[in-house]
Amino acid sequence: MSNESLANLLKEERRFAPPAVLAAEANVTAQAYEQAKADRLGFWAEQARRLSWETEPTETLDWSNPPFAKWFADGRLNVAYNCVDRHVENGLGERVALYFEGEPGDTRAITYAELQREVSKAANALTELGVRAGDRVAIYLPMIPEAVVSMLACARIGAPHSLVFGGFSADALATRIVDADARVVITADGGYRRGKASLLKPAVDEALTRPGTENVRSVLVVRRTGQEDLAWTEGRDVWWHDLVERQSDQHTPEAFDAEHPLFILYTSGTTGKPKGILHTSGGYLTQISYTHHAVFDLKPESDVFWCTADVGWVTGHSYIVYGPLSNGATEVLYEGTPDTPHQGRWWEIVQKYGVTVLYTAPTAIRAAMKWGDDIPAKFDLSSLRILGSVGEPINPEAWVWYRKHIGADRTPVVDTWWQTETGGIMISPLPGVTETKPGSAQVPLPGIAATVVDDEAREVPDGHGGYLVLTEPWPSMLRTIWGDDQRYRDTYWSRFEGRYFAGDGAKKDDDGDIWLLGRVDDVMLVSGHNISTTEVESALVSHPKVAEAAVVGATDPQTTQAICAFVILRSGAAGGDEQSLAEELRAHVAKQLGPIAKPKRILPVAELPKTRSGKIMRRLLRDVAENRTLGDVTTLTDSSVMDLIQAKLPSAS
Ligand code: WT7
Repeated sequence: MSNESLANLLKEERRFAPPAVLAAEANVTAQAYEQAKADRLGFWAEQARRLSWETEPTETLDWSNPPFAKWFADGRLNVAYNCVDRHVENGLGERVALYFEGEPGDTRAITYAELQREVSKAANALTELGVRAGDRVAIYLPMIPEAVVSMLACARIGAPHSLVFGGFSADALATRIVDADARVVITADGGYRRGKASLLKPAVDEALTRPGTENVRSVLVVRRTGQEDLAWTEGRDVWWHDLVERQSDQHTPEAFDAEHPLFILYTSGTTGKPKGILHTSGGYLTQISYTHHAVFDLKPESDVFWCTADVGWVTGHSYIVYGPLSNGATEVLYEGTPDTPHQGRWWEIVQKYGVTVLYTAPTAIRAAMKWGDDIPAKFDLSSLRILGSVGEPINPEAWVWYRKHIGADRTPVVDTWWQTETGGIMISPLPGVTETKPGSAQVPLPGIAATVVDDEAREVPDGHGGYLVLTEPWPSMLRTIWGDDQRYRDTYWSRFEGRYFAGDGAKKDDDGDIWLLGRVDDVMLVSGHNISTTEVESALVSHPKVAEAAVVGATDPQTTQAICAFVILRSGAAGGDEQSLAEELRAHVAKQLGPIAKPKRILPVAELPKTRSGKIMRRLLRDVAENRTLGDVTTLTDSSVMDLIQAKLPSAS
């Protein structure tokens, strides 16, 4: 990385004030920033009182051994009790917790009282299988209610869970089972994906043949697809409906220390073995509960919340399971994909359940843009009042499309920046307070300290770019990398002394608002300028013919790197002359950002390579642009995408 700050090219002038009614009744007002600024730890101590503690904490933060934090260390609580039982005790047992919508159209409405019985039975079942507090349980399930029940059952008995996304292979599953030394695996025969039943249990069978998995005593199997001829290992495999259903639905939750491990979740990263991110109980639940209340302005008695992530990602952990349920929310849980059986499926679900708050990812918004405005227009989306985005920088054009075509040009859009490591939302507008700017996550939440620094760790002035850092510990921060304290120090705390380095490029605009510019590995160096892939992509997406873009820097003898752009055209724009289209887009980028950011090459493609959580894999596109053999493609959703892209390429070399 050169010493020069990241280029700061994009100008965005559009502003959207919070709707007056929302602002008047908002859960959190501007006063929260003042309060947290005056007494940051006092602010978090107050948020911890959102929870029910068996022993109230008297300590807030112990930072005597950085970077190892302890929050609320002398407090004791049960996380599952906080997410389920206390609502029932407060007379809310008949409130629906989960509206489950299976991909084939099967549905279940589960109240808090039912959830309490289901979680109690599952906790008793795990206990019967010999699971004790501290034992790790691997969960490899589709998006079905049993996934939520399993997580809460683990939390209830103090057994840290480790979810492995159902789309991952036997290899990925085995690595994670070995690293966490899991004792039990909870899985299903299969799940529904794109109209078909896909198998899960065979991947578990295969994973358990690998060395290092010998400590797995039991495999608990949910029947979801009714798959016949399932291989079965007697003495190890047990059906959920045999074991769980016969348990008592009474179970007394035990309190654990605030720092008791709640879960491990693996992030793949670009190199090396996956990192087991460790989260603990009291601080995590405090921040997740508060951020869900503040950022989504959640009113549990009237809102219907829907986070479209998979429970296998941190977004699902925090904003399907622990945030909404700790706040007593009613929410939607959807098993399938947005385009099964048709491209309006999500909007149909919003209409059916009267969803009021929707939380999704830019990749899904750009896909909906590509499919066309007429699709959401067929559904009644008038129940929506807040829209959220997470996972990647959201291009201003996609942000505006989301607000206009999903939110009737009326709902605030909150772009929330955070990571698996941060556990919960860190930087985001507040829907009743912040005047929003398309494409910017804007401000650290009350109680969160974030800034942008240059190579020498100096805070950059407004209007400049650099690296995003977090300057104070926060309650839901990761506590370490499972089994590897040194890697935890090296990865996050060594680049800038005493500060957490997030790995993202960012800039502060003239108002001091933060814009995320993508992973620092994705920044390009062109003729001495650092240019962010995100900004060039956003400029391309602001052209009416472009639905989605991925930009990489390819080695170039003249300019160090040359910008190479892969674009997906909007329906209707494809099929023209590629040469003149490329010229048109180049001119458009030059006008938006300046001539230095003009892509040297522009290639229209049908699809882009994405990870299973929806992030574009620029590394593979760089391989293509530099005519290299492709690197590891195993985390791609669909590896045939790369064949299609390469087939386009003779002209590009
Ligand atoms: C990385 C973390 C946070 C849950 C889902 C992803 C990128 C995330 C934003 C945003 C720009 C974002 C960052 C971050 N990212 N949200 N609103 N704007 N970038 O969790 O898989 O741990 O990925 O996602 O690059 O570091 P994750």
